[in-house]
Amino acid sequence: MGCNVNSLGHIGIQVSDMDRSLKFYREVVGLKLTGRCGPPDFPGQVCFMRVDQLHHNFVLFGLPEGTDSTPPSVGIDTTKRKDVGLNHVAFQVDRREDWLAALGHVRSCGVELVSGPYVHGHEAQDEKGFIGGSGSHAFYFLDPDGNRIEIYTWMMDVSKPSAAAPDPDL
Ligand SMILES: [Fe+2]
Repeated sequence: MGCNVNSLGHIGIQVSDMDRSLKFYREVVGLKLTGRCGPPDFPGQVCFMRVDQLHHNFVLFGLPEGTDSTPPSVGIDTTKRKDVGLNHVAFQVDRREDWLAALGHVRSCGVELVSGPYVHGHEAQDEKGFIGGSGSHAFYFLDPDGNRIEIYTWMMDVSKPSAAAPDPDL
């Protein structure tokens, strides 16, 4: 059925200040720059970024020269905007100890957490521990344009129905 996709490949976001966003995603999130392009191939600056060796997982698109880059929503948490589109982007960390280190790193960068850290599973027994939660441990912060970023670990697999996924497509 469908297109037989096998993974979520990459996400592209538009940014108001390429140098500021490039520095943020390198230094705070830890992405690597693969390459930077621009006119005449693209109308504005484009930075292809990657997690590991794949050419790109995340792409920054600068608005074309002359674009009004300060619409009312710039700088506002994407989850608080009254627009359709991006809500948040999540990056996975494989090991809990590395996730804890990531939490310390983001805080040491002076970046404020806007949500978490917490567990998305009913075992957490608080308002974030909803029954359908994946069990992942997560925390959230904003990039310079207000795009909400999540860093998580320990997301469960879904191979059969469970409390966290009562009626999943299988
Ligand atoms: Fe998420």
